[in-house]
Amino acid sequence: MNIDWQELRFSYTETDYIVRASFHGKWQDGRLVGEWGAPHATRDKILPMHVCATALQYGQEAFEGLKVFRGIDGKIRVFRWQANAERMARSAEGLYMAPVPTALYGQMVQMAVHKNKKFIPPYETGATLYLRPLLIGTTPKLGVGPGWDFEFIIIPSPIGPYYKEAHSNRIPCQTFIVNRHVDRSAMFGTGHFKVGGNYAASFRGTETAHLQGYDCLFMDSRYHRYIDECSAANFIGIRGNEYITPRSSAILPSITNDSLMTLAKERGLKVTRRHVRLDELNGMSEAAACGTACVISPIDKVIDPDNNITYTLPQAPGPVLLGLRNALQDIQYGRAEDKHRWCTVIN
Ligand SMILES: Cc1ncc(COP(=O)(O)O)c(C=O)c1O
Repeated sequence: MNIDWQELRFSYTETDYIVRASFHGKWQDGRLVGEWGAPHATRDKILPMHVCATALQYGQEAFEGLKVFRGIDGKIRVFRWQANAERMARSAEGLYMAPVPTALYGQMVQMAVHKNKKFIPPYETGATLYLRPLLIGTTPKLGVGPGWDFEFIIIPSPIGPYYKEAHSNRIPCQTFIVNRHVDRSAMFGTGHFKVGGNYAASFRGTETAHLQGYDCLFMDSRYHRYIDECSAANFIGIRGNEYITPRSSAILPSITNDSLMTLAKERGLKVTRRHVRLDELNGMSEAAACGTACVISPIDKVIDPDNNITYTLPQAPGPVLLGLRNALQDIQYGRAEDKHRWCTVIN
């Protein structure tokens, strides 16, 4: 193993082991019954699969993302894996897949970390070990409908800090461009699940924005008036003492956003979840995209090409969101007390 931690980006670097478990079942009176087998670690990253597997044919696939940190005290911390497990269970149920029991999920997270300890980057680098849990339907099926066999896999990969300036406040900003011609997900669709189909569906928006040098701001699919998601991250805006984030049936409930909301309330901010009109950006002092990868990525501008308007955020990055970002990272890296027991220390 020869990894230059400084060179890591958000891309795949192979580790020694992945961890796998299989579910075999059947549909009985509209219910999926069956059992998960014992998990095992394997060096083999190639998955032999039937060409008619429901994951390949009908997109029966869900995934997750969480980080493992090497703290300032040398301890290994996994951030909110239980929240992750719960979200994946909801995604599984949303796509008629077998949910992974929380205990099995936790056991496999532990295994994935233990088996790949040498891939957890040192504290000073700001890099982390990312875990990508993946659930796929493996039943060979041609008729349209859900399968009954599933594979759950945890794929670890060390990743670089989102920003090169690992533990500092010098973080670059993102400019978003509104796209009212591509919807990431429908109002009563699968946007609130973390399933591959949503991401494939979003590429028309995100890749068009990238070609223009921006990131894509998705709007609500019904009116195209309210902010839904910042590419693959939630939106946060600050107005006065208020932390505002969209409420929508089509966005993914971000675990980072949930954590930041808790910290914001503790700091005396008023936290509001509601529909957020695009033109409300005018009254905001700061805004950001938030998610596991970046924690918080400040937004400097939002371009609305349909109306020929550019919204400029006065503070980018701004003190409120930077303060929250630091507070969350202090917990993740063991620099501050973990009052909410978000981190699981692995020995
Ligand atoms: C569409 C989408 N929204 C929001 C998020 C942020 O969620 P989290 O904070 O749990 O990483 C992600 C990343 O997982 C995402 O893919």
